[in-house]
Amino acid sequence: MNPLHIDLGERSYDIHIEGGCLKNAGEHIRDLCPKADKLFVVTDSNVGPLYYDPLKAALEQAGFALCVHVIPAGEESKNAALLSKLWEDMLEFGLTRTDAVVALGGGVVGDLAGFAAATVLRGVDFIQLPTTLLAQVDSSVGGKVAIDLRHGKNLAGAFHQPKFVLMDCCVLSTLSDKTFSDGMAEVIKYGCIADKSFFDRLAAQPSRSAIMDNIESVLYTCCDIKRQVVEEDELDTGRRMLLNFGHTIGHAYELAGNYTAWTHGQAVAAGMVAAAKLGVALGVTPADVPGQVEALCHAFGLPTAIPCSAADYAAAVGRDKKGTGADISVILLEEIGRAVVHKMPKARLVRLLNSFDKVP
Ligand code: GLY
Repeated sequence: MNPLHIDLGERSYDIHIEGGCLKNAGEHIRDLCPKADKLFVVTDSNVGPLYYDPLKAALEQAGFALCVHVIPAGEESKNAALLSKLWEDMLEFGLTRTDAVVALGGGVVGDLAGFAAATVLRGVDFIQLPTTLLAQVDSSVGGKVAIDLRHGKNLAGAFHQPKFVLMDCCVLSTLSDKTFSDGMAEVIKYGCIADKSFFDRLAAQPSRSAIMDNIESVLYTCCDIKRQVVEEDELDTGRRMLLNFGHTIGHAYELAGNYTAWTHGQAVAAGMVAAAKLGVALGVTPADVPGQVEALCHAFGLPTAIPCSAADYAAAVGRDKKGTGADISVILLEEIGRAVVHKMPKARLVRLLNSFDKVP
């Protein structure tokens, strides 16, 4: 499969999707960063023991000096204290502006390592080696990097495009079913917002094994949709908001579960069903759409409704980055495969979401 090229002028890069390609990481990085001597690798306590040794061998073979930093697995690691520790360790290692940071892991590793790369020495090159389905179809592409703050997730961050994304689909075999389903929420999202035939293909064979039989094509389709959106709106001021279908409401569910009861993908799945119902209530979405979204999420083991208080809806809507003053932009479906940005009063959104929860 040919690499997918993200065309962003001088920040352009390729996404290479291939089973087993992690072992070629050294050659790829050598080609892309010819002046680099040192690579600072960030991974986590789940992924490191599985995949760091083969990566280390490949990178050393290509002549790089390495320093690895293993963070505890989990969202709690996306914090300012760990970010600061990474900066210090990078400087201790002697990283220079021609060297690079490598993220080997899921979204937490990519977001934290990417933000460290964006800011250390005012920015160094950054390579994404995503190892979860969610990171492969979403967070490793598009350059959003961030840490969480006490006020919410991803509230301090930057746009720092990777120099290269290398996706080895073989590594998905070690994901638990729950973590695989977590990524499926984002896969389903792409069908909902941009590609009805892809949605129908998922619905025709809704199982992990069917997805894995076609995984390179599934990853390519998702990343290609994200490519088009990011090329048009790199800095997320317009069309890129479509990628947030189900996310505003999903953030309320994550908050309602104290960020531990529900994974991001589970919250997004229930958020997509609620956003489809919202679209029906606002006269934008055909009445049969919520049932189709619900059935596909359910088939992949994702929740389709999550209990949430009015206060949590209001808090999530209030802190959403798509809000300005009294209004918020929500993403609605005009049909499966076509999404629109719809501006509405925050208070009305909260009222409507509460009313869905009251319906038996
Ligand atoms: N994950 C949404 C975006 O990259 O814009």
